Amino acid sequence: MAVPIPSKSKQSKSSQDSNNQGFRLEYTNKKTKEEILAQAAGNYQPNPNYTRGENRLYHADNLPVLASLLADDRVSGKVKLVYIDPPFATASSFESRKQKHAYNDHLVGADFVESLRERLIFIHNLLADDGSLYLHLDGRMVFHFRIILDEIFGEKNFRSCITRKKCNPKNYTRKTYGNVSDYLLFYTKSDTYVWNRPVEIWDEAKILKEYQYTESDGRRYKKVPVHAPGVRNGETGKEWKGKLPPPGKHWQYIPKTLDEMDARGEIYWSATGNPRRKIYAENSIGVPVQDIWLDMRDAHNQNIHITGYPTEKNPALLARIINASSNPDDLILDCYAGSGTTLVTATALNRRWIGVDSSNEAIRTILHRFELGSERMGDFINTDKQASLSTHIPIIDFTLYEPEPHLQANHTTNTNKSNGYEAYQLSLLDL
Ligand SMILES: C[S@@+](CC[C@H](N)C(=O)[O-])C[C@H]1O[C@@H](n2cnc3c(N)ncnc32)[C@H](O)[C@@H]1O
Repeated sequence: MAVPIPSKSKQSKSSQDSNNQGFRLEYTNKKTKEEILAQAAGNYQPNPNYTRGENRLYHADNLPVLASLLADDRVSGKVKLVYIDPPFATASSFESRKQKHAYNDHLVGADFVESLRERLIFIHNLLADDGSLYLHLDGRMVFHFRIILDEIFGEKNFRSCITRKKCNPKNYTRKTYGNVSDYLLFYTKSDTYVWNRPVEIWDEAKILKEYQYTESDGRRYKKVPVHAPGVRNGETGKEWKGKLPPPGKHWQYIPKTLDEMDARGEIYWSATGNPRRKIYAENSIGVPVQDIWLDMRDAHNQNIHITGYPTEKNPALLARIINASSNPDDLILDCYAGSGTTLVTATALNRRWIGVDSSNEAIRTILHRFELGSERMGDFINTDKQASLSTHIPIIDFTLYEPEPHLQANHTTNTNKSNGYEAYQLSLLDL
């Protein structure tokens, strides 16, 4: 495998001066940052039926909510993690499993880009200095937002583009490859950010495959090079045990450290006298998670618990993100909350949260999920639905906010105009 050696040549002036690489995504009606941040903050009041905690659920368009959060000292600059899974510009409408209208995904092209960009500019300002953003999109729009997020966060704060396998292989009739992937763009506000490296815990079969050698005391190990790419003039470029590093390489450690490792038996010498480093299985808790996630598909068999809300994401996906990029008690925001996957996972992991969604069906689904949990996918056809609900500890420590009454008559959103605004009574029979 070729390992690139970083270039020593100077960066271009534009990339030194600005956050980005000196190019932008241009389209008509692209607002300035100042115009976007001039958005009026929304006014919200608690729904008297749900006022039991500091976590906040907003039933409203997220743009004025984000503007109000930016003016709120308890939130502004304090959000540690934002995960958002907005509409993907599919030019479609989405219904729940019970065929209830959930939301419209009608914005496409530049209108879609600008609508999401406006929200991302607020989100950038809301994040703590050590905060992170994960933006979930598919192949339609992910490339546009790599550029938009470089503009907002700075190219140097791009961390990963994660490819996720979202479903099982499809029997595609179109003349192209099966579409089983979507993407998560991971950016941080700065280069000092919360990071709890996720690992895939070893199982016996993986250990045997990866660590093929055994010490006389039974410890399993693998052999790796003891040199690394790049020429060095210091001690790591000098002879060790009468050997120079291979051309274009340097030793990974100074000769004194290599001597100590050798004395402990941690260097393997080949028959031709080449040193290799021994890495022991017992010192590794697992394989660091890489940027292709094959094990995080959304509901794909009848035993998995779901709410029935369309485009609902796998809670394990959220758990991985929340564990990696926040700590207990941190504040997490999802302003496209849908069925509330981020919110229930954040609660389970002892994080605080703010959720926003403009859809009546989303809020009904979240309230139902908070109270009763979700159901096995196979049970959506059962009539005895109470019997199929999972054992669940109700989530009650949140306050539900709605636009103030005089605003409700005009309460429409760019995605849910047909819904109007209605007070929801939590009716289980309705769901
Ligand atoms: C793809 S779904 C999110 C699904 C969610 N991640 C889950 O696991 O259930 C997108 C959600 O964004 C909401 N949404 C779209 N535009 C919005 C807006 N302007 N303000 C608030 N919510 C919005 C939709 O109502 C929908 O519920």
